[in-house]
Amino acid sequence: MLPHDDHPHGPAISRRSAVMPRSAIRRIFNAAIALQDAGRDVVRLDIGDPDFDLPARISEAVAGAFASHRTHYSAMVGMPEARNAIADHMERRFNMPGPDEDRYGRIVVNQGATQALNSAMQLCCDAGESILLPEVYWPNYIQQVTLAGIRPRFYRVDDNFQPHLPDLAALTDGTTRAVLMNSPSNPTGALFPEETVRAIYDFCRERGLWLISDEAYCDFVYEGEHVSPLALDWEHPVEERRVIGVFSFSKSYAATGLRLGWTVTPRDDVTLTLATMNEPLTGSLTTPLQLGLAAGVGVEDAAERRDALRGRWQLCGEILTESGLSFDPPAGGIFYFVDISPTGMSADEFADTLLEQEGVAVVPGSGFGLQPTFHEDGRVTFAPGERSARCVRLCFAVAEERLREGVKRMARFIASHTAVANGAG
Ligand SMILES: Cc1ncc(COP(=O)(O)O)c(C=O)c1O
Repeated sequence: MLPHDDHPHGPAISRRSAVMPRSAIRRIFNAAIALQDAGRDVVRLDIGDPDFDLPARISEAVAGAFASHRTHYSAMVGMPEARNAIADHMERRFNMPGPDEDRYGRIVVNQGATQALNSAMQLCCDAGESILLPEVYWPNYIQQVTLAGIRPRFYRVDDNFQPHLPDLAALTDGTTRAVLMNSPSNPTGALFPEETVRAIYDFCRERGLWLISDEAYCDFVYEGEHVSPLALDWEHPVEERRVIGVFSFSKSYAATGLRLGWTVTPRDDVTLTLATMNEPLTGSLTTPLQLGLAAGVGVEDAAERRDALRGRWQLCGEILTESGLSFDPPAGGIFYFVDISPTGMSADEFADTLLEQEGVAVVPGSGFGLQPTFHEDGRVTFAPGERSARCVRLCFAVAEERLREGVKRMARFIASHTAVANGAG
């Protein structure tokens, strides 16, 4: 019986929504909250939500919007104030061409990078067509492709979580419409060097594919430099461009709850289509919050938050190293993704037991690599990816004192379980 058929007395849930896997992040999030509600002290290293306060200019702009009754529907593509501010920001931060190229016309405001990605995937692919995703990935990708009926294929990553480029050709056929890249990556923190970004971009050009670039963590890089494929795309005439750049207001501006992000589109018809997709998917974005976004991106201060994160990145790496685990520090992002297989536990067992015994919430890697199998009878089943199932993800964008406490508890847990796995007691 299919899960959506499991209701003899009532209507069935659609197959796509019934099979969509639940995010491992939210599973642990809920378990951690249940423990906290029961009075336990839980160190929350699970959710990727930088603990900084929202910059005052953003809350003031939002409050000003309410005070001046700017609380009505706005243009589907986004408010002019927000689009202009984003276009200026993209020019300052990414050398986006303009104004002769109408850089403002390339910007679509979205309900977070989440909705931007959802729209981008559906703009690129019809149901039954395929998209290439990294083997270790942010779980919402698989939910989004499942809901849209898009077939994901996964390119492998090496020991340093860099893409295995020959896979791109091996996985591509007549149904393939797009490649998705995410640098710096959630969960791995891998940052793709320029030659890798160029190789992926050139591949998409040769094969006539879209390239969706999820740049949610572009402002948080600790080693090396963030390279966006948008810069490569802008070297070509507009009609040949193919990169859809997705950006988040959430992480760079400590504004996760405001639910805003934006897309940089390659062409006018893409802007128009994404704006039209905002009609059913958002019903237009919140007016006061878009004014907050305009104030937020109007000042380039994300580097201050990156510098504060750098200290925690270092601290987290040092304590984890003392625990005896071997890993490459992430070059960017806000997570460590570490192989805990020396403990002899699976990632799920590790995360559940760590939460229960030490009160530390981390996310099992099994949730970052689910591999679907599409069965002939319409069922879709998901198996954890082998590469990610050995790892857990911990977020270091939390207050230093809590981070120190949480990682120390985790290191103690690892040390005792590794000793058991090695037969030492
Ligand atoms: C890789 C990645 N892309 C996109 C997003 C979505 O961000 P937003 O809060 O803007 O929807 C996240 C959020 O965690 C993410 O980790």
